[in-house]
Amino acid sequence: MTRKETCVSKLLRDCPWGQSREAETYAPANIALCKYWGKRDRDLNLPITDSLSISLGPYGSHCHLSLQEGPDAYFLHGEAVETGSVFAERLRAFLDLFRGPDGYGYRVEARNSIPTAAGFASSASGFAALVQALDAVHGWQLAPPALSVLARLGSGSACRSLWKGFVHWHAGTREDGLDSHAEPLDVEWPAFRVGLLTVSAGQKAISSREAMNRTVETSALYAAWPDQVARDLATMRAAIERRDFAALGGCAESNALAMHATMLGARPPVLYWLPDSVRLMRKVQDLRAAGVPVYFTMDAGPNLKLLFLAADTDAIAAALPDMQVVVP
Ligand code: PMV
Repeated sequence: MTRKETCVSKLLRDCPWGQSREAETYAPANIALCKYWGKRDRDLNLPITDSLSISLGPYGSHCHLSLQEGPDAYFLHGEAVETGSVFAERLRAFLDLFRGPDGYGYRVEARNSIPTAAGFASSASGFAALVQALDAVHGWQLAPPALSVLARLGSGSACRSLWKGFVHWHAGTREDGLDSHAEPLDVEWPAFRVGLLTVSAGQKAISSREAMNRTVETSALYAAWPDQVARDLATMRAAIERRDFAALGGCAESNALAMHATMLGARPPVLYWLPDSVRLMRKVQDLRAAGVPVYFTMDAGPNLKLLFLAADTDAIAAALPDMQVVVP
């Protein structure tokens, strides 16, 4: 048994297989405010640090899952996914962890409500929606932390995509990762907004997985990262508790830049920014200097995500007309 299989068999002990034959689920994408950057275990996607995210509400993944005779079949936006493609192989490897005793195949019909042209990753919401669908089809009735562990086996940040709002992923300490799962914060903040700014929708040259591993292995700047995350996480949780937007936004922006600094220290360096990324960062900082409370964060790519409050939407949209506004 692989270590992933061992983890799945621990969680699914005594669970039934193949109860309802089909299910339809939805999971929102999420954007980290305090980033997950670095694995302590690559097999199980176990992180070195905790992280904290905000969901993208209506932007995420829909999954229709059914059991069928014969092999698996996968569809994205109604079109068959080519056998042997990276996407199909990743999906099949994940579903291989969940083969029941009766030899059924899975039919997966996935749809992303994130505009596919926008260049925002949908693997987190995709794996979260798939895990919820597997749970429903088989009638496992797993508790949310267990579903979060299963989603993490598909993609680390997927463990944070099972809920709307603010979500904290606890790194955990166990070797089998059963205590490494996310938890939603019991916080209502209806005025909180996320803005999406697309710089490039193209495929990135280096995956987050590879960039993360290279940074941990070769960047002298990585040594400072875990302590920085511990401080930022405490700052952000306290700021959320007080609804202190400036403290949260400022810390999130600094955290993202610090993550990119660790990548710049890697050998060879990882630089995701394009000229327009930097132009937009400056624009956000200029808006702030002019009195508009808006902050940015960035992940393993050139696009920006803005953080602001509902009351400032018009002022920001006037300066950045291409921004898509999301209610988390
Ligand atoms: O879960 P992955 O392997 O796609 O990695 C996500 C990494 C970042 O998006 C850069 C940070 C995060 O916490 O989501």
